[in-house]
Amino acid sequence: MKILVTGGAGYIGSLIAGALDKAGHEPVILDSLRGGRREFAERYPFYQGDIADESLLDRLFEGEGPLDGAVHCAALTIVPESVANPGEYYEENVVKTLSLFSSLQKHQCRRILLSGSASVYGNSRDAVLSEDGIPCPGSPYARTKLMQEFLLEDLCLAPGEGGIRGITLRYFNPLGAAEDLSSGPWRRGGSHLIARLLNHGPESPFVLTGTDFPTRDGTGLRDYFHAADLARAHVLLLESFDSITAETGYAVMNAGSGRGVTVKEFIDAFERVSGRRIDYRTGPARPGDVAGGYAHTGRLRALTGWEPRHSLEDAIESALLWEITSPLLLKAQLS
Ligand SMILES: NC(=O)c1ccc[n+]([C@@H]2O[C@H](COP(=O)([O-])OP(=O)(O)OC[C@H]3O[C@@H](n4cnc5c(N)ncnc54)[C@H](O)[C@@H]3O)[C@@H](O)[C@H]2O)c1
Repeated sequence: MKILVTGGAGYIGSLIAGALDKAGHEPVILDSLRGGRREFAERYPFYQGDIADESLLDRLFEGEGPLDGAVHCAALTIVPESVANPGEYYEENVVKTLSLFSSLQKHQCRRILLSGSASVYGNSRDAVLSEDGIPCPGSPYARTKLMQEFLLEDLCLAPGEGGIRGITLRYFNPLGAAEDLSSGPWRRGGSHLIARLLNHGPESPFVLTGTDFPTRDGTGLRDYFHAADLARAHVLLLESFDSITAETGYAVMNAGSGRGVTVKEFIDAFERVSGRRIDYRTGPARPGDVAGGYAHTGRLRALTGWEPRHSLEDAIESALLWEITSPLLLKAQLS
């Protein structure tokens, strides 16, 4: 299959492109390089520009011929930035997605796989987060991700909408790099748990915030899984796309390990894998923090036979290896 990957210069998009290639498919990348890395994109046919640039999309389809489907990863993804600039997030993630979908329809690219986010569950009080639960997004970023879902679903369900079919895959907490370390997270720093552990030291001590949640050890519950397993799930979904969407036209499903890990357990695993001791102090939960939860993954497993191949420890090891090897792979200084 020949598949368009928007945001294919970014973290997850580059892993998906690599997984498609490895499975014998042909990725085509569309990315503005607003984020992401040129090195990742240029391995495949690459069109640099905006997802809302209709003439670029016309050129892309003229150059590549008909495409069998599209994985839509391109988005702005930083939660605090979305709180500071909500308008920009709605413009980039929602308005431009509508334009992209129109271009895909125009060019009869009818299978759309959307990068969804477990952030749409936001403030849910459930520990096991199921696709049938009511979304409760807690930030402008999460709301734009939910609006992307609504948009795709409505286009798929509309009679005479050019036969578009869609799947939203809601990612929980992907971690680590491609198995061959050819691509991975390109941003350094940030507020993600793994980044805070990797960067911790006398100048940036680690503070574990929130210790009295109703979980096994009082710390928040998350669902980390290997990003390579996430990338493979896209390949399986694309390969089974028609049967999955045959009846309803649209489906939504979770991708995660299906097992919760507390922040404390994650730190223990990081210490085991890295051999580094993390000296941390504890602090109160930050405003808005919730106990969290983990993915119900039965739907993805049943429909594709997908199973995660990697453990949490594998994913942490991959993140550590990527931290060491990526400066050699990426020409410019990582930002
Ligand atoms: N990484 C995660 O933990 C995670 C979790 C849940 C969901 N997601 C979703 O996965 C997708 C990819 O996230 P990521 O972590 O790889 O982000 P990323 O920032 O690494 O990649 C996004 C890519 O999209 C490109 N892009 C952004 N706006 C564009 C536009 N208008 N036109 C063309 N290209 C544009 C950027 O240049 C970048 O290369 C996003 O949709 C995100 O919401 C990611």
